[in-house]
Amino acid sequence: MSDRTRVALIFGGQSSEHGISCLTAASVLKAIDRDRYDVVGVGITRTGRWTQIPLETIRDYRIVDGVVPEVAEPRHDAVWMVGEHGCEVATRAGETLVDINGVDVAFALLHGPFGEDGTIQGMFELMGIRYVGSGVAASAIGMDKHFMKVAFEAAGLPVWPYVAASAHRLRHHRAAVVAEINERLAYPLYVKPARGGSSLGIVRVTDPAQLDAAIDEAQRFDPKIVVEQGFVGARELEVAVLGAPGSPDGCLASAVGEIRVHAEDGFYDFHAKYIDENGAALDAPADVTPELTARLQDLARRSYEAVGAEGLVRADFFVTDDGAWINEVNTMPGFTQISMYPTLWQEAGMTYPELVGRLIDLAMERPLGLR
Ligand SMILES: Nc1ncnc2c1ncn2[C@@H]1O[C@H](COP(=O)(O)OP(=O)(O)O)[C@@H](O)[C@H]1O
Ligand SMILES: [Mg+2]
Repeated sequence: MSDRTRVALIFGGQSSEHGISCLTAASVLKAIDRDRYDVVGVGITRTGRWTQIPLETIRDYRIVDGVVPEVAEPRHDAVWMVGEHGCEVATRAGETLVDINGVDVAFALLHGPFGEDGTIQGMFELMGIRYVGSGVAASAIGMDKHFMKVAFEAAGLPVWPYVAASAHRLRHHRAAVVAEINERLAYPLYVKPARGGSSLGIVRVTDPAQLDAAIDEAQRFDPKIVVEQGFVGARELEVAVLGAPGSPDGCLASAVGEIRVHAEDGFYDFHAKYIDENGAALDAPADVTPELTARLQDLARRSYEAVGAEGLVRADFFVTDDGAWINEVNTMPGFTQISMYPTLWQEAGMTYPELVGRLIDLAMERPLGLR
């Protein structure tokens, strides 16, 4: 047996970011140091089936004519096992198991619900598998735009005005929710599914007459919603945070990156994120003063701690002449080679392959269970 660490790359998944996740898997596979790591590819189909995918297939994932790759429905399902041989993934072919692969650590390259939200992390915990990134609670908090703000507020971080509404409140007290929104928040508003991503289901509302329709639209993605007061003309600045258990802060913060959205309303929507190549420019590093960099790095490290993150987060801010406000942390930020998170570390002299190795090593060093 080799002494290489055996890594399971897990990708695809049931969220709207399935295709992006496949591209991320191709990117990580090409970068991972094969002298140090053995790799097994495990895809999750859009319907939630698990399947082992040959590495050659993963390496070939790319956008063809605007269509993102997809994990195909398998003939044989993959199964996870934990026992005297440690953790293994295998393929069930009728009554027999084939293609049995040991796994030391899982690297879930999944975004959104059922991937970035604590559910798969819970499976890893139960099975005693080491894994890259945040645990169950931090992942779940980072996925929920309401509880995330509650955690930020408790840590004294600057949070812009918002109103959160559960499915129950919206069903039984909708008029009161609308009244509260109009009383507490100034337009424009951003109406958001509480547990979304990729800007899907987010509506920018400039007129109270549009509010009801916007709530309905957000609820198509999540019965729970968050409504925020909108910034006008704020900069969108981001900081990459990397776990460093040995350091006094427990993590390191990168230089600042900026998203410059070209649309006049400044809304970084799904189209600008993924469809329109000219929808937005990513600057890494951004044109910011040393003072602002230091301020955002401090807020970024504190936001990592506020949600109890491990390994990595990207902390996203809105910044005006009057100050900086935390928008969100992403516990599994965009992670292709050209994404903001790896690019910010590249700026700091850490290559993408080094970053991949660092995250896996952090996961391997971490004790199992409560920590
Ligand atoms: N309060 C706000 N004021 C101004 N723009 C906002 C606000 N909230 C969201 N946006 C815009 O919508 C985008 C997506 O919102 P965000 O909360 O980051 O959701 P997601 O999790 O989908 O990325 C942001 O990048 C920004 O362009
Ligand atoms: Mg965002």
